[in-house]
Amino acid sequence: MKKYLITGCAGFIGSNFVYYMLRRHQDILMVNLDKLTYAGNLENLKDAEGDPRHTFVQGDICDRPLVEKLFSQYDFDYVINFAAESHVDRSISNPGLFVQTNVQGTVNLLQCAKEAWLRDGVWAEEKKFVQVSTDEVYGSLGDEGYFTETTPLCPHSPYSASKASADLFVMAFHDTYGMPVNITRCSNNYGPYQFPEKLIPLMINNVKHHKPLPVYGDGMNVRDWLYVEDHCKAIDLVAQGGRPGQVYNVGGHNERPNIFIVKTIIAQLHDRLQDDAINETLIHYVADRLGHDRRYGIDPAKIRQELGWYPETPFEQGIVKTIDWYLCHETWMDHVTSGDYQKYYEAMYKNR
Ligand SMILES: NC(=O)c1ccc[n+]([C@@H]2O[C@H](COP(=O)([O-])OP(=O)(O)OC[C@H]3O[C@@H](n4cnc5c(N)ncnc54)[C@H](O)[C@@H]3O)[C@@H](O)[C@H]2O)c1
Repeated sequence: MKKYLITGCAGFIGSNFVYYMLRRHQDILMVNLDKLTYAGNLENLKDAEGDPRHTFVQGDICDRPLVEKLFSQYDFDYVINFAAESHVDRSISNPGLFVQTNVQGTVNLLQCAKEAWLRDGVWAEEKKFVQVSTDEVYGSLGDEGYFTETTPLCPHSPYSASKASADLFVMAFHDTYGMPVNITRCSNNYGPYQFPEKLIPLMINNVKHHKPLPVYGDGMNVRDWLYVEDHCKAIDLVAQGGRPGQVYNVGGHNERPNIFIVKTIIAQLHDRLQDDAINETLIHYVADRLGHDRRYGIDPAKIRQELGWYPETPFEQGIVKTIDWYLCHETWMDHVTSGDYQKYYEAMYKNR
């Protein structure tokens, strides 16, 4: 049986990963270490409750004694590190927290994995550390071209700077100690369980409640959108078959300007809810995000050629599935949009 330490899997992508792995693999054990920050939500894992292949542990990836204890208890074959502070706007107001979790937390996991897997100068066989990173580490593109795995790192936000630093440490553990590692760099994900500070669930929730739709700048910033399940498939493939020491970019050639996404959500919800108050007058352009990257676009040729990965969900299908999910999970949305989130939302948008 393969044993996984998966971190941050009460969050958006991680919880989808748990379900993906439970559907795909019978003989596994996943220990899910998550601090349950504002972004972590045990409700995301409800459908995995009682499944002996998944165990939840509340804790911090920076907590060395705890991570060491988990390694000695479970003798993991894989570490897949999703845990992170993940929201660019929050990194602009509190960069230190991003260094702590995204950089120090990753280094702590690397050290614990090394301690467990490197004995008398020899690495245990069939082990892998997978760092879930982002295309934002490459910076911003002009109108043309794509990020490849050899594009130089050029992060602009404190979030992407912290993710790029973590990536460099992961590679340093490979180059210095020979640790079997991979890094995945994915474009923007969308799908179920995403915290509604991120564009798509934020807009769905606001449209439904006839609230203004805050769009940064001119709305023409382009992101390369990938349905979350396609990302989960890529991480699983990389963990199983990625060549040690390699980076794999993950993206589906689904580039859309933000304003296109917003207008799509308005049109879909207008038709679905038969509600004429849902229209483009809800759009409210607000002052742009500081250092806002203009365009991201991924070249996924390497993961396609080496591991046979391709995205299965075209954007037109994925966005309909996503809207359906949020419409059918009103209680989930009500719970996450109370408390801390409300205060944060007000602080972000009240003066814009
Ligand atoms: N969402 C995207 O579009 C996207 C795209 C590319 C890469 N990524 C990367 O994928 C990973 C997951 O992203 P997400 O969107 O699911 O994030 P998220 O914010 O939804 O979830 C992050 C999870 O990490 C947990 N966490 C935070 N600090 C922790 C700590 N110190 N110890 C343990 N757990 C901690 C949170 O409780 C939460 O459950 C991140 O590393 C992110 O950088 C995200």
